Order: sequence, then structure tokens, then C-alpha cells
Amino acid sequence: MSRLAHPPLSLYMHFPWCVRKCPYCDFNSYTLHGELAEERYIEALERDIQSQSVEVEGREIVSIFLGGGTPSLFSPTAIARVLAATGKFLRVAPDVEVTMEANPGTIERGRFAEYRAAGVNRVSLGAQSFNAQRLETLGRIHSPQETRRAAEELHTAGIENFNLDLMYALPGQDVAEALQDVEAAIALAPTHLSHYQLTLEAGTIFAAQPPDLPGDDAAAEMLAACGERLAAAGFAQYEVSGYAQPGRQCRHNLNYWTFGDYLGVGAGAHGKLTCAPETIVRTVQAREPRRYLAAVPAALTRNTVPRADLPFEFMLNALRLVDGFEIGTFVERTGLEWEQIATQVDTLVHRKLLIVQGTRLLPTVIGLRFLNDMLLSFIAETPQTTGGFGLSTAGYDRFPPGAPALYTGEKVQVGK
Ligand SMILES: C[S@@+](CC[C@H](N)C(=O)[O-])C[C@H]1O[C@@H](n2cnc3c(N)ncnc32)[C@H](O)[C@@H]1O
Ligand code: SF4
Repeated sequence: MSRLAHPPLSLYMHFPWCVRKCPYCDFNSYTLHGELAEERYIEALERDIQSQSVEVEGREIVSIFLGGGTPSLFSPTAIARVLAATGKFLRVAPDVEVTMEANPGTIERGRFAEYRAAGVNRVSLGAQSFNAQRLETLGRIHSPQETRRAAEELHTAGIENFNLDLMYALPGQDVAEALQDVEAAIALAPTHLSHYQLTLEAGTIFAAQPPDLPGDDAAAEMLAACGERLAAAGFAQYEVSGYAQPGRQCRHNLNYWTFGDYLGVGAGAHGKLTCAPETIVRTVQAREPRRYLAAVPAALTRNTVPRADLPFEFMLNALRLVDGFEIGTFVERTGLEWEQIATQVDTLVHRKLLIVQGTRLLPTVIGLRFLNDMLLSFIAETPQTTGGFGLSTAGYDRFPPGAPALYTGEKVQVGK
């Protein structure tokens, strides 16, 4: 592990409560009963940031992501406080990207201007669909009109750099309807669009009582048609589920995909750090908010990633990117030699799932579609797959920042 370098560093902050838990969602989020423990939670986050800051002394934070749950349940004053604590205990880049997730059902008039004043410069809005009936099926707390109003508020507040989350392959949806959702999203002039296939996640209401979902072929058709429409509107796909206007890719997510480092603060937040002497460590905070509040900062768990797992962990992230990665990044960020994966890579190139372009390695169109199968090639001590690419990427859509998600079935929260 002689070439391990410090990659860029991000900060993820988790806010675990929602107005109401959606029936499809298995994020670490909880219906808020009674009053929000805003003061206690912000204090806990401040302690968490201070405590974890010693791990990254002198290193600069390039992006911050306030995710959930629903961070927009917290007041602008509360958000200003955690961002101030970030600036106090960590070295923050002058041009830091600060994204906050927001549910359109929680946005009062003027709110975004206040979040902007607090330091937020990018917002990710959970639109999901613009069809009132589908929103109801999804258990969403907002109407299409409220999403439109929230987007207007963003423009008024001067937060032009915003993402809309859309889901497709919804119960009862056809290709024309999925396209209408994309059209409605484009009309709100976001700079970024996340387009997720609705998946049935274990432990959710939808998994227990599965709705009737469109079949695989219909879902694939929706993906292709929506991708084309987005491309025509200037949104280039740069990641499995991510589309952006030129220069508007999410910097925070890009740091995950390129195996960068990140601190994770808040209930259930995951972190990944490259530490001396030459080890990569994954951290996770107490998942349940009550336990987190009681035990922070001591509840943080640290696990060194075994070297044998690094090829898979790296590829799990980097191969999500349409443009792949610089070959040298693998060596710099895992500390391993390229020779350790050369045979697997050659086989995948031969099977036309990967392609070498200059100094970059990238997935082909078919490779991106069968990402899961490709990734199996990089799992330590696992028999290689032999043809028969039966899986799609759907299951990977939302938990890319680390292999633990795959190993334990636990979802890792990522930014959009
Ligand atoms: C933390 S939420 C976004 C912010 C906010 N909580 C909201 O829902 O408005 C993250 C996003 O993940 C996506 N998501 C959640 N569960 C999903 C599932 N089962 N299948 C596909 N996408 C899902 C949704 O698009 C959702 O907006
Ligand atoms: S999708 Fe968003 S609002 Fe719904 S439960 Fe999950 S985190 Fe909360």
C-alpha cells in the first residue's frame, strides 16, 4: 500500500425525521411524532463534528451534503448553526458545495432564501412524480403544485443550482406517463435530475404488500425514452441515475463515485477515511436517533476495510460513472497495484462490458446496464460469473458509497 494518497474530503450530515414515512423508503428515516428535537439534535451534530474533526486535521472539506430523512424540517437557524460548527472545527474550501435535501411538502414561502443565507448553495428536491394519483400511491405529503411552488421559491431565492429526484416504473405508470414526469421536471429548469427506478426494498410497506409494478421491459423502455428526452434538453447522463447540465454534476456524489473520503455525522451516517498508516477505514454512527442522541460522539464504530475488499469497493463506486475513471486513481486511492485486477479487467474488456479510452477505463452501455454482474468479478474469493447476465443495476441505484451496503443489506445514504 505504498502509493495511497489522501483523496478529496466531503462531509455528510444526516437528519433522520420525516413528516411521514413513505411506504417504499428504507432510508434511515422515521415519522416525526410530536415535536422535533431540533435543539438536542443540532447540539449532538456539533459534538459529532468536533469529535470527528481530529481524524482529518488540516484537510479541506470540498462538499457538504445535508441528507435525510428530511433536513428541511429543520429551521434555517438550525442549519446555520451546524454549518457554522463545520466552519469552526473543519477547514472548509471557499467554494464548497453545500447541498440540502428538501421535501416540497415542508417548504414555506421564503424558506429557501433563509437556507441560502445560512450557507446552502444547492438543493435536492424530492419531486418523485408530477402525477397527483401516483404521488398518493407513493404516500407523498405534497401535490405536484407544491413541487412547482418549491421550485419557483428556489429560483426566487437565487438557488439556481438544484436537483429534482424523480422515480419511474411506478405502479400503473406507462412510458408516456414517465415521459410526462420528465417533461414537467425539465419545465422547472433544474440543473440536475436524479432518475431512480422504484425498487421494492426489504422491510418497507411496499415489500410486504407489493404494488403491481411495470415489468422489466417496460421499465427499460421508460429509462431509454426518458434518457433521450433528458439528453435533448441538455442533461447528460454521467452516472447510473444522474443527469446534469454541463458543469452541474453533483460534486459531493462525484467524490463518492471516485472513491473520495467523507466524514459521516448524524444518526446512522456512514463515513470513509484514508488514514495513516495506509489504511482505509469505514465509520458508522448509531443508527437509531434516540441512541445517537444519548451516545454521540462515543457511538461511532470504525472498521478497517480489508485489502482484499478494496477492488470491489472501488469498482462499486467508479463503474457507476458513464465516463469511468482514470486508471491511476485506482492505484492512488486503494494503494493496490493495477496488476491485482488486470486479469478481471481484461476479461470484461474482452466481453465488451468495459472499454479502455486513453488513460481511462469506462463501462460500455451494456456494461452499465449489467453493472451488478460486472462487479461480481471484483469480489474477493468469489467464483467469476460466466455469461448469463441476468441482473440489472436497479438494486444499486441508491447505495453506492461503500460495499458494506452490499455485504450487510444496510442502506448507505448518499447525496443526490
Ligand atoms: C432521502 S430521499 C429525498 C429527500 C426527501 N426525504 C424526500 O423524499 O423528499 C432520497 C430519494 O431516494 C429516492 N428513493 C427512496 N426510496 C426509493 C426506492 N425504494 N426506490 C427508488 N428510489 C427511492 C427518492 O427519489 C427520494 O427522493
Ligand atoms: S423518501 Fe424521503 S420523505 Fe419519504 S420516508 Fe424516505 S426520506 Fe422520508
